[in-house]
Amino acid sequence: MRVLVIGSGGREHALCRALSLDPAVSGLHCAPGNPGIAELAAVHDVNPLSGAEVVDLAVQLGVELVVVGPEAPLVAGVADCVRAADIPCFGPSSGAARIEGSKAFAKEVMVAAGVPTARAFTCDSPNEVLAALSEFGAPYVVKDDGLAAGKGVVVTSSREEAMSHAAGCVRVVVEEYLDGPEVSVFAVCDGETAMALQAAQDFKRAYDDDGGPNTGGMGAYTPLPWAPDGLVERVMTEIVRPTVAELAKRGTPYVGVLYAGLALTPRGPGVIEFNARLGDPEAQVILDRLETPLAGLLMAAATGRLAEQEPPRFRDGAAVAVVVASEGYPAAPVSGDPIVIGDLPDGSYVLHAGTAVKDGRLVTNGGRVLNVVGTGKDVAEARRVAYEAVGQITLRGAHHRSDIALRAAQA
Ligand code: AMP
Ligand code: GLY
Repeated sequence: MRVLVIGSGGREHALCRALSLDPAVSGLHCAPGNPGIAELAAVHDVNPLSGAEVVDLAVQLGVELVVVGPEAPLVAGVADCVRAADIPCFGPSSGAARIEGSKAFAKEVMVAAGVPTARAFTCDSPNEVLAALSEFGAPYVVKDDGLAAGKGVVVTSSREEAMSHAAGCVRVVVEEYLDGPEVSVFAVCDGETAMALQAAQDFKRAYDDDGGPNTGGMGAYTPLPWAPDGLVERVMTEIVRPTVAELAKRGTPYVGVLYAGLALTPRGPGVIEFNARLGDPEAQVILDRLETPLAGLLMAAATGRLAEQEPPRFRDGAAVAVVVASEGYPAAPVSGDPIVIGDLPDGSYVLHAGTAVKDGRLVTNGGRVLNVVGTGKDVAEARRVAYEAVGQITLRGAHHRSDIALRAAQA
């Protein structure tokens, strides 16, 4: 099978790595890719947001499957263009990707489907925001309605900060605070059938002990040794399947990975957000553990044949990913610094996220530069290996969290 992956981050590097290990894959392409991906796949200089450019490339390469990684091309309708050209595509249509692209739409779907989530108001004026803040009380949760690359949400006990964030948004969703540990559950969907992947946890704040600003994610691990038994099945029954059924009923069937970001509240799992894709860096650890060949699974979902597939299988053991970020990330990441990757310990490897090659040298090109993945028989061992590997990276001004998977390793 010839496969084209769209995207250029650590998640797409992980997708390409898993696809390259699938014997059914005879040709692997990525656009636009990155220097790490270029070691596994042919990379192509194409604007990932242009459906027309992606389709032209897919036709020219004769690929049988297109996999769209990030949310921006999905929301922009790239998957619709690929499907319109009769090429199977793993990734939701722009209509279905609104589950991530619009928080207000996601709430509407959840309410219609009876899915547990925070109560919320969509506000169009400062007075409405004030009324909503008073209704729920502190801590306040204020969200920009649209896509904001991890920067659209403020959780604060200060009413002034809540109001000032709301003032910077076009349309704002104010919601109830959900109290409890956060987990991410992912399901592969073909529009009708949904199958669970292994749950993971990511670390959104920039600094140790969940300090500093929100980011796209500074690290992740899987599995979750501390999670309640049956968590994933419960999430599939109460959250994922009703959502997939509701989207099908609305004429926007969901094909791709549905990502449920959850808080495990005393009343059970509640949805904090849906995303229309694999998490980044959660994908890096989940795909590491996936035993089922990836291309066949994604092709079955893209062609509506998921019900004929065995549920995805996962290998024993654990994986931990630590993000190495550039100086200044997330506020003002510095690009162009040289990166040196030394001898990595057994059981570890490095995925590229924000890198480029300049004058023959590997340099930083974005905020989240590398994802260092460690594996082992349990979370504690995977974590040790990951941090040993992080010690082999030389990058001026770099920073990373030192507490990724720490509590889970002690569980
Ligand atoms: P989001 O971009 O929706 O993932 O939000 C970013 C982060 O804000 C989440 O990972 C949570 O830590 C926090 N958050 C968002 N919504 C809520 C909520 N209703 N209750 C508690 N925390 C929330
Ligand atoms: N790791 C969080 C996200 O991908 O949105």
